[in-house]
Amino acid sequence: MKVIVVGKGGREHALVTALAESDTAPEVYCYPGSDAIFDVASRLSAEITGVDSLVAAMVAEQIDFCVGGEESWLADGLADKARQAGIPTWGPVAQSAQLEASKTFAKEFMVRHGIPTGGYAVAGSAKEAKDAIVSYPTVLKFDGLAAGKGVVICNNEAEADAFLEEVFVDRRFGEGRVLVEEYLEGPEVSVIAAVADGNYQIFTPARDYKRLSDGDEGLNTGGMGAVASRALVDPDVLTEIEEKVMRPSVEGLVKDGLDFRGFLYAGLMMTGAGPKVLEYNCRFGDPEAQAVLPLVGGDLAGYLKKAAEGNIDEGLISFDQSWSICLVMASAGYPSSSRNGDVVCGLGDVDDARVYHAGTAKNANGEFETNGGRVLAVVARGSDLESARAAAYAEAGKVTFDGAQHRSDIGKMHFDQ
Ligand code: AMP
Ligand code: GLY
Repeated sequence: MKVIVVGKGGREHALVTALAESDTAPEVYCYPGSDAIFDVASRLSAEITGVDSLVAAMVAEQIDFCVGGEESWLADGLADKARQAGIPTWGPVAQSAQLEASKTFAKEFMVRHGIPTGGYAVAGSAKEAKDAIVSYPTVLKFDGLAAGKGVVICNNEAEADAFLEEVFVDRRFGEGRVLVEEYLEGPEVSVIAAVADGNYQIFTPARDYKRLSDGDEGLNTGGMGAVASRALVDPDVLTEIEEKVMRPSVEGLVKDGLDFRGFLYAGLMMTGAGPKVLEYNCRFGDPEAQAVLPLVGGDLAGYLKKAAEGNIDEGLISFDQSWSICLVMASAGYPSSSRNGDVVCGLGDVDDARVYHAGTAKNANGEFETNGGRVLAVVARGSDLESARAAAYAEAGKVTFDGAQHRSDIGKMHFDQ
């Protein structure tokens, strides 16, 4: 069996690895991939310029099924076109991918189906946004894909003005509106389910760390780490999340006639009034995938292929009950900028963790060097949170490069009482 993963980051490195390690050991391809990914996966030989040529190359290579990793490809119709070409695809069609690509689409969906979420208003100009802000802190969100950088929590008017200028004057994210959203408080949880035609299976819950620095200080990033375990959320709370969020979301997709086969990710705030949805994603989280996928046993490849054909077969996979910690190392300057070309040392010394590359490239000597903001993630397991954390930090300590930044409180903050 030949499977292709579409994407190039740490999540895709984790997906490619998990698929390759599946019991059925498929031949794994990746596009666009990265040097580290191509140590595990094969490349497509054709030249690719967009979704159409990618699908044509998949057909020529006789790929059996496709896993959409990155959201932008799904929003551009990867699943629609691959399916038309006869290739089952894990990841929703473009119409349904709007749950992630458009925050107003997602909010209207949640309101229609009674799924708990923060109150909001939609603004087409800085003035409309200012008029909609009733108090601080307030949350402003660009209504489109912004690689995790389109959300700010504003503590005062000056912070709101600065973001609104970026959106409406500088057009940092392109054309688009802004959501003004109620500020919610509580611990966050990411719950990801495999969803196919009205059926679903919830994977191991996770928590990611979006801020750059310890204590959740500093700028928002694409994610500086994650923790995953079945024990992260009490069983009764997981049941509440299933009943208030996951089931109505999956039923809502069916009621609205939205074709959905793929991972549905609910980013939740566990407020005093129960779980509220902060966002949906139509793919696995990054860096949640790096933390969760090492806990998945069995035949993930066979499971996702069957699910892409509309059939969730829970018996094909199993979930390890241990804890998993993912520690992201970023390059100098991240997230405002990033620095390429710093040689990554010590990768060969890591023996009790997995390393997933997000922003590396091989130099002329065959060494990995930094090539992006988030460089790599070190992921370790343990029977409890403490041992997973100790292993992740011990192993990450072996990996060095100039300017490396990482948090020292992944798995500690939000857990220590
Ligand atoms: P989002 O991309 O919508 O998940 O937002 C990114 C991050 O901003 C979330 O993970 C939260 O930490 C924070 N955030 C988003 N919406 C809210 C909200 N309504 N209240 C408080 N924090 C929020
Ligand atoms: N970890 C959040 C995301 O993947 O969007």
